[in-house]
Amino acid sequence: MLKRLEKLAKRALTELESVAEEDDLQAWKVRYLGRSAELATITAGLRDVPKEERPAVGRRANEVKTTLEAAYESRADAIRATALGRSLREERLDVTLPGRSLVRGRIHPANRTLRQIIAIWAEMGFQVYRSRDVETDEYNFQLLNFPPHHPARDMQDTFFTTDSEVLLRTHTSPGQIRVMRERAPEPIRVVLPGMCYRYEQITARSEIQFNQVEGLAIGHHITFADLKGTLNAFARRIFDESVRTRFRASYFPFTEPSAEMDIECFVCEGEGCPVCRRTGWLEILGCGMVHPIVLQNGGYDPEVFSGFAFGMGPERITMLKHGIEDIRYFWANDLRFLEQF
Ligand code: PHE
Repeated sequence: MLKRLEKLAKRALTELESVAEEDDLQAWKVRYLGRSAELATITAGLRDVPKEERPAVGRRANEVKTTLEAAYESRADAIRATALGRSLREERLDVTLPGRSLVRGRIHPANRTLRQIIAIWAEMGFQVYRSRDVETDEYNFQLLNFPPHHPARDMQDTFFTTDSEVLLRTHTSPGQIRVMRERAPEPIRVVLPGMCYRYEQITARSEIQFNQVEGLAIGHHITFADLKGTLNAFARRIFDESVRTRFRASYFPFTEPSAEMDIECFVCEGEGCPVCRRTGWLEILGCGMVHPIVLQNGGYDPEVFSGFAFGMGPERITMLKHGIEDIRYFWANDLRFLEQF
């Protein structure tokens, strides 16, 4: 019996030497240390061993068991260490590799300028008023002193709906009448931002859809000097402190007198270049004193009240600020353009 134990121990230890994987190790454990392993059978059959041999066999069986258990533990440690070494080697993470950058959304350049413009006017005491995109012929033209067949209507080719009285506003000016009718006879200082629509050939300089910011101030002693001073203050804030401006006489049916404001061309500084079409100046807005008929249509007595109005294009101002040559970039959704802002 003792010989059998020696042989068993020797076989087990030799076999263990060639075990290199966790699975094989577990199989080995079942085979030599498991409940139905040979060693367990010997221990269980100890009763049948002749009495005088029994103590020696029992002690030896215990020793073999302890030896095998210890050999198992150290083999298990070695296998785990090898596995750890392998995973450290194979699954190594190089923390010095450059990261993958996330694509982040951003404010559209036209909206960015729109927000800047609105913030400047808000600081100067102008409230923001949202007027509707879908207008009637009456508000878009007639109440603004365009009679039905007035030639000035040709300046604004219009998107009409199937109902010839209903149209997409061609400018934000109809909002002037809506604010006046809501506020009369209170003084007014508002800006009206929003989309406008014109049925035009799309070119580098004109789109069928664009933003405008309308401005309207009405009070008791508002003069053309207020108009100039206010718009000059705005230009200094949106461009810079040193910007030069000029007012050129112009015509709109709803203002009298009417003007257009130019800023000095920042490319050639007034010398004349292709950007300013050799004039040295760039047009940024239309403006004027609110026409007495328009004041009246809005519910204000032109004998008592006066006011000024202006209309500017944020896309145009963005083009001037950033040197963008083509207005079509704004709505083409080309990421190469949008991601530059
Ligand atoms: N509505 C005019 C346009 O679209 C601009 C303007 C607004 C002019 C207010 C004068 C006063 O061109």
